Amino acid sequence: MKTIELHIADPPTPYQVMIGAGLIDQAGSMIAPVCPHDRAMVVCDQAVADLHAARLKASLTGAGYDVSLISIESNEERKSLDTVSRLYHEFTGARLDRHSPVIAVGGGIVGDTAGFAASTFMRGLPFVNVPTTLLAMVDASVGGKTGVNFAHHEGARGSAHPAKNLIGSFYQPVLVIADVNALATLPDRHIRCGLAECIKHAIIGDGEMFAQLERSGGATFSAWDDEARIEFIARNVMVKANIVERDQRESRLRMVLNLGHTYAHAIETWPGVNLWHGEAVALGLIASVGAGLALGITSPDCAQRVEQVVAGVGLATRMGGLPSNDELIEAMRGDKKSHGNRIRLIVPREIGSVEIVDEVSASAIGSGWDRVRK
Ligand code: GLY
Repeated sequence: MKTIELHIADPPTPYQVMIGAGLIDQAGSMIAPVCPHDRAMVVCDQAVADLHAARLKASLTGAGYDVSLISIESNEERKSLDTVSRLYHEFTGARLDRHSPVIAVGGGIVGDTAGFAASTFMRGLPFVNVPTTLLAMVDASVGGKTGVNFAHHEGARGSAHPAKNLIGSFYQPVLVIADVNALATLPDRHIRCGLAECIKHAIIGDGEMFAQLERSGGATFSAWDDEARIEFIARNVMVKANIVERDQRESRLRMVLNLGHTYAHAIETWPGVNLWHGEAVALGLIASVGAGLALGITSPDCAQRVEQVVAGVGLATRMGGLPSNDELIEAMRGDKKSHGNRIRLIVPREIGSVEIVDEVSASAIGSGWDRVRK
């Protein structure tokens, strides 16, 4: 097992990310010391409830908790205030008090939604994240971003358009338990989506990990044993921890973690587009490289290596049927990461080094879209 301790200034209490094999069965004894209480609420991803809920519940019961459990659907539509409201009703019905832990089990959508409900119910309940997807283990469960989507009625497309994570909070968990056994049943598409965020981390700050991804290509992760998987997840958590410890609230440095995301958010919620977040991020990485080349920031060698790694792990680097650049740029302006009418982008310089560009011209942004357009 590997343990990484995160030290965030606010709140000043550090928390641990524990990564190992078989941890769900030990969760009760891990949670009890950080959340001593007689009652706990588990919010479980409906898709993995059959696999994990009973074992987690048994472990929590064994540690002395009276456990309530609710399953929620994990899709972008259900990542909503309606689901949060449903959770509040469940929390009230279970008579949670301010010390009752809320334990999210599932992917990023469940963690973000349950984390937001935990952060706001009674002004904050202790939150434990048990990520069961690679993406949630390496990214979503670390750093305290919680939130839900919110459909608003403005923008170029007139009709209600769900803006990603528009409602949310920075709320650090008290503990993260990443059980790599949960990945054994995870479909390959989920693994590839997690790898998109791993490639992002490698470009931002871990050239050695990037080289590892280049070497292992299509065998990345799926062909590895538990030890290699634990090491790889820990490496990703460390890249992210190193950034969020210095800038929890994204005043500047943390923006680098949005590499590829301003592009990704514009397409993943586009009506009729059926891309998962990691797939959209992969395209966003390629588009960022395209913008970086147009801006003279990204080296051609870096551009080529990013493209090869993304394709090498089996993620698409091109997409057919994209809307026009003007429409996409309008959607990017609606992203919460834009500022005023300006669009900020993170672009790679070299592998292991990125630049925050505060105001990117429409033509450079368009060059990014042109690079992914099939
Ligand atoms: N996923 C980007 C961040 O946590 O800041």
